[in-house]
Amino acid sequence: MMVLIFIVFVNISPSFNPSYIFGILAYPACHSLSPAMHNAAFQYTSLPHRYTRFEISPENLECFITNPEKNWKGLSISIPHKENVISMLNVVDPAAQKIGAVNTIIAEDNILKGYNTDYLGFIESLQEHYNPTKKTCLVLGAGGAARAIIYGLQQLRAKKIYIWNRSREKAKILATEFSVDAIDDVFEVQNEIDIVINSTSVGMHGISEGQSPIEKTFWKENHAAYDIVYTPVETQFLKDATQNASLAISGERMLAFQAKQQQKLFINHDIPLSVLEYGIEMGKRSMQNWKAYKFSEAEKKDILASIVENKYSELFLSFEYEPMILEKKTHAFKKKLEQTKNTPHIIAEIKPASPSRGILIKDGDTIESIAAEYEKAGASCLSVLTDYTFFGAGPENIKKARSNSSLPIIRKDFIIHQSQIAEACALGADAVLLMKSVLSTQKIQELLDYAHALGMDALVEVHSKEELQCVLDETTACIIGVNNRNLHTLEINPSQFITLRTQFTEHHRFDEIIWVAESGFSTAEDVQIYAHKSNAILIGSSLMSSDNKQQAIRSLLSV
Ligand code: ATR
Repeated sequence: MMVLIFIVFVNISPSFNPSYIFGILAYPACHSLSPAMHNAAFQYTSLPHRYTRFEISPENLECFITNPEKNWKGLSISIPHKENVISMLNVVDPAAQKIGAVNTIIAEDNILKGYNTDYLGFIESLQEHYNPTKKTCLVLGAGGAARAIIYGLQQLRAKKIYIWNRSREKAKILATEFSVDAIDDVFEVQNEIDIVINSTSVGMHGISEGQSPIEKTFWKENHAAYDIVYTPVETQFLKDATQNASLAISGERMLAFQAKQQQKLFINHDIPLSVLEYGIEMGKRSMQNWKAYKFSEAEKKDILASIVENKYSELFLSFEYEPMILEKKTHAFKKKLEQTKNTPHIIAEIKPASPSRGILIKDGDTIESIAAEYEKAGASCLSVLTDYTFFGAGPENIKKARSNSSLPIIRKDFIIHQSQIAEACALGADAVLLMKSVLSTQKIQELLDYAHALGMDALVEVHSKEELQCVLDETTACIIGVNNRNLHTLEINPSQFITLRTQFTEHHRFDEIIWVAESGFSTAEDVQIYAHKSNAILIGSSLMSSDNKQQAIRSLLSV
């Protein structure tokens, strides 16, 4: 698939183009499919732009939008900023003004222009199957999506529009604003309407899958149905409609159509829908819900290979992360582990889930609360998992941990590109994990140099005698972790660290190395075995599954 995209895509770029940054502005932003779609479009055009994520909370929105030092050229705006952002713009397109929501911003010579492409996405995806001109329409819902849909239907000169909403008052206000009619009961207009459009979130996967906003008995033969909910593609609303109504349309293509319009505003290119849909597919693949992730028999044989393959596809789609401010670090991770201590240093891990143990995070725990508890109990550093698909985490967890702890933080992920190190630095990490199993010796050295230039440290992880030999002989790594877990099978060999380290006591670099033992510790006795043989131990699953994390660390340290 990956190869195919390069063959199919045509180079239509002029010989020189400036490189701009675009992004999705949302809160949260980590699970958006927009980077996948828009980066696929930039690949297609061969323009050197990048599309990233800006996860900005409502209280920081104004500061972000009006910052004169902005490094972005255009933004897609998503929940919860579409309405609030309007007052921060210099010019707002009349359609966006009328809808009351902006989903696209372009910065031109410090003039910010706002647009709405959601209604165009709706119109185009609907018109592929249905012409609402002179038709009577019933819109379910009265939120932001309903506003764009009503506006779109009015543009297409629908004969009459009714609105029904769970909260009646909201429907009435919207009806007055758009000069349409609000109704209390959908059956009032059952015989009159031609098409029903669901703009509520009812039926969405993970929220109310299997439910429909209207009763099954509502549908009649002459009705058509359109659902903006597209996960799952076949919603209950559409399933019910299919049994009686003449037409059931999924809003699956609305996302790609509105992105196509955004690309016109961003770069004035007409991107084929198939390119954007390819991006969506790739995005979905790399964001496959980790909870539902089931390893196939082939994958089980080599879990590491499938994780790394997935990481490459994620990075391919999100491209390089462009940190807004790069504050140079001060090697806090290494300095901490160099401090002499009576007990081993504990690097306590924040890991919401794992491929071997499933969900680990306890109800009521948050990334912030765990970070604070680890620090209070005497951990020396924090290890923060950031892989989404397999560990249920995300880069934003670094920021969350940093907000509640001053301990040095190591980003634990499958690092394959320097952009992940820059991202870790910008989010507040002091170090990164580099795994010999997934990187060549040369790549390790390249990434080590990059991290060091930012004042960051790197823990280089090995699993075998050969890997350790390579790292000692051919790189300048000075913090080496030996993982007791075989990453290909996920099995733990508790003596792996000691066996490997002992084989290199004569190596000329042996004494300059900070040795970290990883995986498989759960008792004070386990820690005691390692107390004089390692500088630090990294503990994840046993701490995460403990109900009292402070107590757990204290008892591990009671050796
Ligand atoms: P969006 O911007 O995606 O439209 P929104 O503004 O939060 O999101 O609007 C969500 C819509 O779904 C609202 O019309 C909401 O009804 P209320 O105004 O009564 O909250 C509707 N909605 C959400 N959950 C619903 C449910 N379980 N049953 C019926 N309507 C629901």
